Amino acid sequence: MTTSPIRTERHDDILVIISNNPPVNALGAAVRIGLDAAIKEGAGDDAIKAMVIRCDGRTFFAGADITEFGKPMTGPGLGEVIDAIEASEKPVVAAIHGTALGGGCEVTLGCHYRVAVPSAKIGTPEVKLGLLPGAGGTQRIPRIAGVKLALQMTAVGDPISAKAAHAAGLIDRIVGEDSLEADAIAFAREIADKRPLPRAREGSVQADEAAVAEFKQANARKFRGFDAPAANIACVEKAASGASFEEGIAFERQEFMKLMGGTQSAAQRHLFFAERQAAKVDDIPAGTQLRPIKKVGVIGAGTMGGGISMNFLQAGIPVTIVETAQEALDRGTGVIRRNYENSAKKGRYTTEKVEGMMGLLTPTLNLEDLADCDLIIEAIYENMDVKKELFGKLDKIAKPGAILASNTSYLNIDEMAAVTSRPGDVIGMHFFSPANVMKLLEVVRGAKTSPDVLATVMALAKPIGKVAVVSGVCPGFIGNRMLSQRQGPANKMLMQGARPEQIDKAIVDFGMPMGPFQMSDLAGVDIGWHRDPTRIESIRDALAAKGRWGQKTSKGFYDYDEKRTPSPSPEVAEIIEDFRSKSNLPKQDFSDEDVIAATLYPMVNEGAKILDEGMAQRASDIDVVWIYGYGWPIYRGGPMFWANTVGLDKVVAGLEKNGVEVAPLLKRKAEAGEKF
Ligand code: 3HC
Repeated sequence: MTTSPIRTERHDDILVIISNNPPVNALGAAVRIGLDAAIKEGAGDDAIKAMVIRCDGRTFFAGADITEFGKPMTGPGLGEVIDAIEASEKPVVAAIHGTALGGGCEVTLGCHYRVAVPSAKIGTPEVKLGLLPGAGGTQRIPRIAGVKLALQMTAVGDPISAKAAHAAGLIDRIVGEDSLEADAIAFAREIADKRPLPRAREGSVQADEAAVAEFKQANARKFRGFDAPAANIACVEKAASGASFEEGIAFERQEFMKLMGGTQSAAQRHLFFAERQAAKVDDIPAGTQLRPIKKVGVIGAGTMGGGISMNFLQAGIPVTIVETAQEALDRGTGVIRRNYENSAKKGRYTTEKVEGMMGLLTPTLNLEDLADCDLIIEAIYENMDVKKELFGKLDKIAKPGAILASNTSYLNIDEMAAVTSRPGDVIGMHFFSPANVMKLLEVVRGAKTSPDVLATVMALAKPIGKVAVVSGVCPGFIGNRMLSQRQGPANKMLMQGARPEQIDKAIVDFGMPMGPFQMSDLAGVDIGWHRDPTRIESIRDALAAKGRWGQKTSKGFYDYDEKRTPSPSPEVAEIIEDFRSKSNLPKQDFSDEDVIAATLYPMVNEGAKILDEGMAQRASDIDVVWIYGYGWPIYRGGPMFWANTVGLDKVVAGLEKNGVEVAPLLKRKAEAGEKF
């Protein structure tokens, strides 16, 4: 017989109900059954005057058990358990530590009172899983805290601090950080005889149409393409509409089921697990000893080097940053300071925190100053010879056991490792620009990279706020290798009569932050250009020859005004038409769907090759790369998940129609009716 994760302990007249369901006390069936039984136990015992619900381990209930979603339900539903708690004739107090999230937050709202330690957080992040709080949260939060906060908590989904929750009436008392249980019991005794019991369902909500309109407008960009925020908002509006609590709950249930059955939530739940799975490297032995990283060296104080350094400074890890000229060094450290000061102005940091972080930064012109660093990351010019020379020098300077990393976005790590006497210590750490903002860290495992070096770098990702994914060594690794498949078909469509703005729009409407031509303009049309204005072999050559280098020259594939607002360019249209008329490709009309198939299916195809070659551990790792490195819309779950939803047979047919050779793995899977 399995033991219940719920146990009860009597403290005279108070029954303490305790959950022990590691790691995060998710509210799975056994927990719900146990909670239900414990409330009945308290109700049936005349010696008990009040109850306290608390959790063992690192956190109060962090939500429903997401692994149960989509499976047949056993035991009572969470909503029923919460209703039973709320209906109790004896007061029930939630004693909160860690993160009371989703269903966990909803359990607290069913309780008559809530106490929390100062470090606790509470929130309803369901929207991030494409859902809404489906156990009464959308109806109880506004009844306690009002429409404004309810909108923020449900439709944006960020948790709030115990202090903020206390101010909003969601927490009744903040108790001692180290005396939660004792303080909760004392609180329960204080209120044991107080009647009537406060029940959230009995509260009323003031409608606030202005707040709803303002909220929608303020978040329009953030919510673009997502279904769940609107459903959360609609539920809060329902609560404030004068409808009864029961009507509100019925509406919430209906909206919850709609979201749960949709593709977006499936995609967002896929990402939740994909992101955590990506951190696991299949062939690193469990218990591998990590190397301590107490000091980091960064070579290059340009945009990348500066951004990379900021991640470590924010995590409290000292950084030595190296440049070759004083001016570049000063400029680089100046940019870091300015970025931090701007964040401070927005209230993200205090001035002391900024000074503290800057105090951890040591700028130098001397490579030898890296001798005491545990990890050295080079972020210099992308040139193999220059990088090899640098790695040769680092080999002589770095202390034994130091990890030597390259931030290259496509060069061969093994070649760099080969010039050192310690190839096992060499690894790729590919950050994405802006490196202090973008969440992806592509970790490139060389042929000789030691397992402990890989494990150390993977573990380092979390404290610096990154999501790490392992890639094997191949040109462009996972992300840029796939990206390179998009430009060719986009260019080809130009030659068949499509316009850059039409292609970009289809891709932006799909949910990407920008299309291929907008991206060219941002990165620089002249990147990789041969620099001979008389040699014009492509549309890009023609643009570059005319000084249309992108946003930096205020013209590229688009014309830009002073505010960098793009508009279609007649000059570009002429250049394209000139090339098109000389080509023998037939003119064609492209629908948005054609554009998506032509540009994105080849990326999926490349993803299949990457997977087949073992360059990515799993298809979901590829999805994580694209979501956190390139802004692939989360609600489409990444390119490989998306391909599954399109149907792999349809992807294969689309590739064949466009004359692309189909990757064997993709073909095999499509024929077998399988998914990635
Ligand atoms: N259900 C099932 N498993 C969960 C889970 C959940 N709600 N939350 C976390 N886990 C698992 C993770 O998958 C991970 O498993 P692994 O070790 O096998 O990879 C493990 O618990 C630890 O999680 P993290 O690595 O994320 O641990 P952290 O300490 O970094 O973060 C956390 C803890 C803040 C609680 C974070 O896990 C989190 O945000 N969890 C999800 C919270 C959430 O979304 N709750 C709402 C659920 S939906 C709901 O409640 C519907 C209801 O309204 C009806």
